[in-house]
Amino acid sequence: MASNSIALRLSGLFALVALLVFLLIGWVLYLQVDKGLGRLPAAELDARYSVLESAVTRYGNPEHWAKINAKLKLLSEEDKRIHFWVVSDNPQYEFGNPDANIRQFAMGRPGMRDLQLPDREFPLKVLISQFPAKDQRPPLRFLIAIDMQTFWDTQHRLLIALISLAAVGILLASALGYWVARIGLKPLVSLSLEAQKLAPPRLSGRLQLSSLPPELDQFVTSFNSTLERVEQAYSRLESFNADVAHELRSPLTNLIGQTQVALTRGRSAEHYFEVLQSNLEELERLRSIINDMLFLASADQGSKATELTCASLAEEVATTLDYLDFILEDAQVQVEVHGDASAPIEKAHLRRALINLLHNAVQHTGPGQVIRVDIHGDEQQASVGVANPGGAIADEHLPKLFERFYRVDASRSNSGANHGLGLAIVKAIALMHGGSVFVRSEGGINTFGINLPC
Ligand SMILES: Nc1ncnc2c1ncn2[C@@H]1O[C@H](COP(=O)(O)OP(=O)(O)OP(=O)(O)O)[C@@H](O)[C@H]1O
Ligand SMILES: [Mg+2]
Repeated sequence: MASNSIALRLSGLFALVALLVFLLIGWVLYLQVDKGLGRLPAAELDARYSVLESAVTRYGNPEHWAKINAKLKLLSEEDKRIHFWVVSDNPQYEFGNPDANIRQFAMGRPGMRDLQLPDREFPLKVLISQFPAKDQRPPLRFLIAIDMQTFWDTQHRLLIALISLAAVGILLASALGYWVARIGLKPLVSLSLEAQKLAPPRLSGRLQLSSLPPELDQFVTSFNSTLERVEQAYSRLESFNADVAHELRSPLTNLIGQTQVALTRGRSAEHYFEVLQSNLEELERLRSIINDMLFLASADQGSKATELTCASLAEEVATTLDYLDFILEDAQVQVEVHGDASAPIEKAHLRRALINLLHNAVQHTGPGQVIRVDIHGDEQQASVGVANPGGAIADEHLPKLFERFYRVDASRSNSGANHGLGLAIVKAIALMHGGSVFVRSEGGINTFGINLPC
């Protein structure tokens, strides 16, 4: 599930953040402790040396020296980490049985130094000091060494503790992070459950904002408005199917009825001819509806006007009027054309749009009245408006007139001759040219038109 994957992702991020934080804290802590531990051996050596220094300096005969030897022996036994060596030319004034390695090391530079002996895993920290001859005592080198193993062990244990703490911390952070993310994502889960309920045909429901955190406001608002559009499209599709069925049913009913009547008894050849002629008209009507629908379907799929030629719109109107000559004459209306402009058009498509606009105008104009075609143009766009006198169209209808099968007269009283697809095709043609359509109903004049980009 998507919410799970977000929870996992968040807990992964928590783990990463925890890793970085632990690494940083652990590293700083380790460095600090390491520094502190590093100082300890030297401090311890200094402390021991300061206790012995004055005695070694002062004592210059064998009796006194025996005291120092006894003291060194005691101290070595008390703390096994500490080793003492005294190196001199006279074995009487030596301590700790220094071997060749120690002797050689003792002759080196005085001060704090590390000594790695072959039989030891860890180096010794050694304080070398030299004392000049005193009375019978020859000059000597005094070495105090401390075994570093305990410090290394402490350091090692600290490192392991820090790493284990970090590992546990990271595991804990990711587990808690997962848990927190799951709680945080609960509104999303309930949102998706609610959204799942909103499948067709139950599209009227909406996601409720009140129960959700404000971060989801924008998502819910856009989801709801998408749902609104889907609902509208869905209901348009439903009524479109009903309209298609309705439009196809009338001609088919006529065809079947006429054919059945003709077949009830023997008829004259003339009668059959008339029936066939009438059938042909119905078939033509069917074909025209299907052609219109196919055209709209191809426009829906994004087909564009491709064979564009830059033409005078007034000329296109004139050619269309020639084509509608008889219809205009029958309706006894006149057409006036004003203005002109050029635009890149696919002529066959534009003529089809003009026929639909002019045909509508003729159908809604009384005998003796005048239809006015106005053509305007500038550098950006050209427009053709077809205006005819007629009753005002209510505002509620205007935005819907270019929808498929939409008619002002819902009773479809003119459905014998009209299918309600004319203006939808005009709009499709405008869109195929990258243009738009417009409609106005003012002062007893109804204007339908098309805008085309230049
Ligand atoms: N010039 C006009 N004046 C008034 N109303 C109009 C005009 N043109 C269109 N209409 C209204 O718009 C509706 C839709 O027009 P459209 O051309 O799409 O369909 P139709 O003319 O009914 O059918 P078709 O054009 O498919 O034969 C019409 O039914 C009519 O109500
Ligand atoms: Mg029409």
